[in-house]
Amino acid sequence: MSAPHAPRTFRIAAIPADGVGPEVVAAGRTVLDALAARSGGAFAFDWTEFPWGCGYYEKTGLMMPEDGLDELADYDALYFGAVGWPSVPDHVSLWGLRLRICQNFDQWANVRPVRFHPGVVSPLRAADSTELDWVVVRENSEGEYAGLGGRNLAGRGPGNEVALQTALFTERGCERILRFAFDLARTRSEQKVSSVTKSNAQQYGMVLWDELFARVAPDYPDVATESVLVDAMSAKFVLHPEDLSVVVASNLNADILSDLGSALAGSLGLAASANLNPERRFPSMFEPVHGSAPDIAGRGVANPIGALGSAALMLDHFDLPAEAARLRAALDATTAAGVLTPDVGGSAGTDDVVGAVLDHLAG
Ligand SMILES: NC(=O)c1ccc[n+]([C@@H]2O[C@H](COP(=O)([O-])OP(=O)(O)OC[C@H]3O[C@@H](n4cnc5c(N)ncnc54)[C@H](O)[C@@H]3O)[C@@H](O)[C@H]2O)c1
Repeated sequence: MSAPHAPRTFRIAAIPADGVGPEVVAAGRTVLDALAARSGGAFAFDWTEFPWGCGYYEKTGLMMPEDGLDELADYDALYFGAVGWPSVPDHVSLWGLRLRICQNFDQWANVRPVRFHPGVVSPLRAADSTELDWVVVRENSEGEYAGLGGRNLAGRGPGNEVALQTALFTERGCERILRFAFDLARTRSEQKVSSVTKSNAQQYGMVLWDELFARVAPDYPDVATESVLVDAMSAKFVLHPEDLSVVVASNLNADILSDLGSALAGSLGLAASANLNPERRFPSMFEPVHGSAPDIAGRGVANPIGALGSAALMLDHFDLPAEAARLRAALDATTAAGVLTPDVGGSAGTDDVVGAVLDHLAG
């Protein structure tokens, strides 16, 4: 007889931050707690909420406390909303909170599935007749978002300032994200990796990336490969999405491509993401792809599907694949039943979607 399992309690730091962030994080907490309540004591979540973001900045001049990373370091995972508000410059809010967490916790792999939900009309005609789903793997620690560069020469007078924004590509950084993409491809029904660069124009960092892709690929003879330029890949997202399984790209290119993917699926509000520290030396962070959506914040109409899909990725991370699958099935059942927020053509509010997801989980 096997020993009874002790209940697993996952300590989660919730950072709702700005705009619709608190609305979608509240949705995720409700649904995750409902799953835990139905797990027969197998697992539970212990939440701590941190009030950081643009409101905190207006009071303190900081997006998060100086020692905020120490406060987060021992949590099992971070559940993030969205950062940014018109009162604070975007580069200040993004670097002061989200990028500070991702970079210092070495969350070097950003996984962004592109999922098509039943009942959500896609602008992509192929979605009517073909089952589409692929995943964008974003290098999340260097590339174009390394934060290297500077501004100078403003002292020479108007019109003379210069700025350098330098992209960083390291052999180690490229190789680990490429191997991550191949390993992920092996878990999927279609075992293929599409590597995306712009190495015809960017002849140093992206050529290094291409060379590493060619060097790593022979270690995965069972996985099909292709190398595609980013402009061609954006066309391929629209014209031949059925050819995609795992798409791996640098920080900026994957950021842009994953927004295109979620728009093709119907809305930015649908897209989920995981910022992973695969070695688990630091907590990983789960968040919807979208921003703080100031245009709809506070109206109760934010689409929670992206935040709930991110919760499913967190369940995968906790090695609860059956629970993650149940949550994804409840999301699909909800959209298929036509319970849709306005961004995907419906009239439901955030709470209506959460209510429908809870009903499907209970059913
Ligand atoms: N990860 C992040 O925290 C993150 C990502 C992107 C942008 N931002 C920040 O968010 C702010 C707004 O940026 P933006 O307008 O470029 O992008 P955004 O993602 O906030 O909004 C783009 C469009 O998508 C819609 N949208 C986004 N999320 C939605 C949801 N859940 N339901 C329904 N509709 C949704 C918005 O209403 C808007 O029309 C800026 O301050 C920006 O820096 C933060």
